[in-house]
Amino acid sequence: MEMKKLRLLRLLFELIFSFSALADAATHGNPANELVQMINFNRSSHRLSNLTTSPGLGCMALQYAESCKGNCSNNTVHCRWNEDDFTEVFAPNCGVELPTFGTLSGHILSCRSKYLKPSLAFDQVVVNDKKAISLVSNKSLIDVGVGIVGDHKGPFFWCVLFSTDKVNSTFVLEGHGEGIKQRKGCFSGSSSHSSSCTSNAHRNHKLSQKYVMAVICIYILQHWIT
Ligand SMILES: *[C@@H]1O[C@H](CO)[C@@H](O)[C@H](O)[C@H]1NC(C)=O
Ligand SMILES: *[C@@H]1O[C@H](CO)[C@@H](O)[C@H](O)[C@H]1NC(C)=O
Ligand SMILES: *[C@@H]1O[C@H](CO)[C@@H](O)[C@H](O)[C@H]1NC(C)=O
Ligand SMILES: *[C@@H]1O[C@H](CO)[C@@H](O)[C@H](O)[C@H]1NC(C)=O
Ligand SMILES: *[C@@H]1O[C@H](CO)[C@@H](O)[C@H](O)[C@H]1NC(C)=O
Ligand SMILES: *[C@@H]1O[C@H](CO)[C@@H](O)[C@H](O)[C@H]1NC(C)=O
Repeated sequence: MEMKKLRLLRLLFELIFSFSALADAATHGNPANELVQMINFNRSSHRLSNLTTSPGLGCMALQYAESCKGNCSNNTVHCRWNEDDFTEVFAPNCGVELPTFGTLSGHILSCRSKYLKPSLAFDQVVVNDKKAISLVSNKSLIDVGVGIVGDHKGPFFWCVLFSTDKVNSTFVLEGHGEGIKQRKGCFSGSSSHSSSCTSNAHRNHKLSQKYVMAVICIYILQHWIT
């Protein structure tokens, strides 16, 4: 009888724990996708076509942003742009099939000492100069990819890559479009919905705190009942 009670309680706590984890995932959408939405919303308001989200471009945007870590000072990033890095390093890292590597028609790269939510990031980071504004509203563009990465202490990096290539035929990901799992940050078009764009360490830390709390609760209850 006691054992049954305990099992029931344990089940209850596990349920509570997994519900709170789920709720966390639901409230944190993918900020990279949200940024693409903001770009498209802005383009729509200027009667321009919506851009298609390319996970291949998004993943490479994340890779490029990550390679610029350490080069953010005073909210300005100095990072070399070398297209060979894309074909030789970032594409293979992402699982972009090389024969489908298309044309990179423009990019925006910015950094901030702290994280900004997508609506602020669009105004302050993506379209904060004339060059970026004219790029976002270029009518030749077809695809877009956004990558965001940073540690919870900062700095954070935002990278947007654009292409004028035909949808679906370029930057194709291996493995039925899943590509290779990225360990840090988040990118648009990725299937991971609970991505927080901050480092995994931060996410795991929050999760382990909850786990410890749940274990302590179970422990106390076990001793209280017996
Ligand atoms: C374009 O994207 C915006 C933002 O996501 C959306 O509100 C709008 O309905 C889209 N327009 C079309 C024609 O798909
Ligand atoms: C689109 O972005 C431009 C550049 O930041 C801005 O001036 C304009 O107000 C935006 N339009 C909308 C509808 O958000
Ligand atoms: C940082 O940037 C701000 C605004 O652009 C400028 O006023 C300030 O002098 C800069 N500080 C340094 C140390 O470069
Ligand atoms: C970062 O900055 C340093 C010093 O300015 C430079 O040597 C290095 O190439 C930069 N890194 C990248 C990826 O551009
Ligand atoms: C738009 O992008 C295309 C392709 O990169 C470029 O050739 C063209 O000059 C751009 N147009 C404007 C108005 O910047
Ligand atoms: C691109 O691929 C998606 C899913 O694979 C499909 O729904 C869409 O119709 C395709 N678009 C074009 C222009 O081929």
